[in-house]
Amino acid sequence: MSQWRWRADRTPGQDDGNESPGGPSTQVAAPGRRSARLGEELEQLVYRFHQRLIDELEAEKLESMPPDKRREAVQEAVKALLARESLNALVRDAVATRVVDEVVGLGPLEPLLHDSSISEVMVNAPDEVYFERDGIMYQSDVRFRDSDHVMQIVERIIAPLGRRVDESSPMVDARLADGSRVNVIIPPLAPKSPTMTIRKFLRSKLTMDDLVGVGTLSTEVGQFMGACAELRLNVLISGGTGTGKTTLLNALSAYIPDSERIVSIEDPLELQLQQPHVISLEARPPNVDGRGEVTQRELLRNALRMRPDRILIGEVRGGEAFDMLNAMNTGHEGSLSTIHANSPRDALARLENMVLMANLDLPVRAIREQMSSALHLVLQIARFRDGGRRITHITEVSGMEGDIVTLQDIFHFEQEGIDEHGRIIGRLEATGIRPTFAEGFAQAGISLPEGLFKNIPEW
Ligand SMILES: Nc1ncnc2c1ncn2[C@@H]1O[C@H](COP(=O)(O)OP(=O)(O)O)[C@@H](O)[C@H]1O
Ligand SMILES: [Mg+2]
Repeated sequence: MSQWRWRADRTPGQDDGNESPGGPSTQVAAPGRRSARLGEELEQLVYRFHQRLIDELEAEKLESMPPDKRREAVQEAVKALLARESLNALVRDAVATRVVDEVVGLGPLEPLLHDSSISEVMVNAPDEVYFERDGIMYQSDVRFRDSDHVMQIVERIIAPLGRRVDESSPMVDARLADGSRVNVIIPPLAPKSPTMTIRKFLRSKLTMDDLVGVGTLSTEVGQFMGACAELRLNVLISGGTGTGKTTLLNALSAYIPDSERIVSIEDPLELQLQQPHVISLEARPPNVDGRGEVTQRELLRNALRMRPDRILIGEVRGGEAFDMLNAMNTGHEGSLSTIHANSPRDALARLENMVLMANLDLPVRAIREQMSSALHLVLQIARFRDGGRRITHITEVSGMEGDIVTLQDIFHFEQEGIDEHGRIIGRLEATGIRPTFAEGFAQAGISLPEGLFKNIPEW
């Protein structure tokens, strides 16, 4: 079952809460027939004026202008063009905004991209655009005219980066100027339509206090996790796509002392580390000719020669898993990373697989021994049916039994019910097991909440 809740919704306005009737942002609620028609009519107007503008504007002159000047020039031209038309003022403003977005922006997607409450924008087909807000997916009433229109916007994104998308390279990852990530896949691989998925780069990252505030974890567990980072434990954050792994890693990284030299390895850059002494490295995909790739694994090997106190890996996905475990086992303690997996046990299985793929001749037992001695904790995070992200397990990697790595839950999420708004009620409970590293906190002078590991049943 999917954890998404589907809901049809109106397209958010460019300025939150500041609505201009008649604009594309106000095509009524659930995309009914009337709003679809209104939208189509508006799009027809936009198309017509866009074409006329292209005829009038000197494309080369525009190209040579800096971006802000270009937008201004286009705005002027659109204004002049529309002034000659007998259009209702509201319609005129809406058309003007849309035409400018067509010429210098990302077309109909602009309002979605400007809305800071939206985290993801997904174009499945010209008339099927979804967005995610607060973990819930909505269908937007944004429309493209047709597949060609979608392709124009795709080109607008990737052409300036020197990338191309066509039948011979039908999948592309790119980044918008603001840091947002875009994935494009086109026919014939996505036969229905060119498809675009934009993960927005949100500038304000959630802090540990914010995460406590939204119910992802409790204050005490936040303190515990921070203490683990301070104690230089090797921690793996595990969860599905979009569950908040990177966000949690970012929040956790705030507990790394300022005195440490941090080297982070990411693909692509996402973390916003607050410390003064940080070097961020970013992997590079191959260019159009298939050359120039630099993998996370290569970056990690280089990072080890950079005298790091801490190594952060945004997400382990491949061969770097092997080098990461090696590094953890040879004195590079305190490493933090995320991994895509559905449970702590699954996280280890995937990690094992990554190491195997990179070193086919390594015996499985050796890999498991390495994992059990390198890793201290797995934090599992999940997105629940109500859209909320919660930590579900805090699990210690405690050793080996025979050929099996032993795991023991220190905390796990207990669901108690669902409130009248459909929100899940529950809490992260201590299992009563004291982690084997518990002594370390006192020795390092790190204090923890009283009775943290005690399982106190609520009466
Ligand atoms: N605990 C949380 N509560 C609510 N929203 C969150 C939480 N953690 C992350 N998000 C939001 O979810 C989206 C995905 O988060 P991210 O950390 O990138 O996920 P992942 O790394 O697991 O793919 C972002 O828009 C982020 O702001
Ligand atoms: Mg991530």
